[in-house]
Amino acid sequence: MTQSKGYVDPQYLLAVGNQLNHIKQRSYALMQIQLGHKVLDLGCGPGTDTITLGSLVGVNGQVIGADYDEAMITEAEQRAEQAGVNAWVRHQRVDAVSLPFATAYFDSCRSERLFQHLLNPAQALCEMIRVTKPGGWVVVLDTDWGTWSTDSDDTDIERRLARFLAETFLHNGCSGRKLYRLFKQQMLTDISFEVFPLATTNYALARQVTQAERSEREALKASVITAQELQRWQTGLEKADSEGIYFSSVNLIMIAGCKK
Ligand SMILES: C[S@@+](CC[C@H](N)C(=O)[O-])C[C@H]1O[C@@H](n2cnc3c(N)ncnc32)[C@H](O)[C@@H]1O
Repeated sequence: MTQSKGYVDPQYLLAVGNQLNHIKQRSYALMQIQLGHKVLDLGCGPGTDTITLGSLVGVNGQVIGADYDEAMITEAEQRAEQAGVNAWVRHQRVDAVSLPFATAYFDSCRSERLFQHLLNPAQALCEMIRVTKPGGWVVVLDTDWGTWSTDSDDTDIERRLARFLAETFLHNGCSGRKLYRLFKQQMLTDISFEVFPLATTNYALARQVTQAERSEREALKASVITAQELQRWQTGLEKADSEGIYFSSVNLIMIAGCKK
């Protein structure tokens, strides 16, 4: 398993997770979780969701958080232990496209902002469906980085950087918009979708969420922009920030389907 494009660390995920709490709660509701259920959180990161899921299934249930990154699993295990849920909330290292779980093991499965990192998201969805019981819910939530936009008079640079982020920086940066099609191609019923627009006037947060340091550096290396253009871009946004007029937005899309 190799580290994915756009790799992020556990602290980044916990910080971003705080901004997405309302969307996370909605995903748990769509899973129709009951006490005693077994649930999977695929691409669980540092256990951003597994501890809350643990409280929803209760001590007689089981939560498995699965992620291929060793550092995420270590952090998630520590957090579960600190929260006192580690008896029924476990984390293990897996590759999303080949899950080491029995067919129809889980009552429901979720995955949040994982598919954008995958070369073969259809295979990961097949695996999620395989390990879900008939009648169980599969919920996938992801960003459509193709909708990322920033208010700037430098629209040309803005578009080039946004396009680089969506099409090159990540394996599957427009993932969110593709989920409906992926779900429709599988043995699922009652497919629903919801779109969550996220906007911020916080420049520092936007830079963190888009991994701007790294993506701009890579865009420069790939000759998508010149050093002069990057300088102009950053100066313009810093000015907007200092004047209190910075604004950017992006859409997240959540799809739910029931296994036949
Ligand atoms: C953007 S993070 C989201 C983490 C978590 N779902 C959350 O909401 O905080 C994506 C996660 O997917 C994991 N990941 C990437 N490729 C993977 C793969 N092939 N199999 C399993 N996990 C993977 C990364 O290690 C990372 O923890």
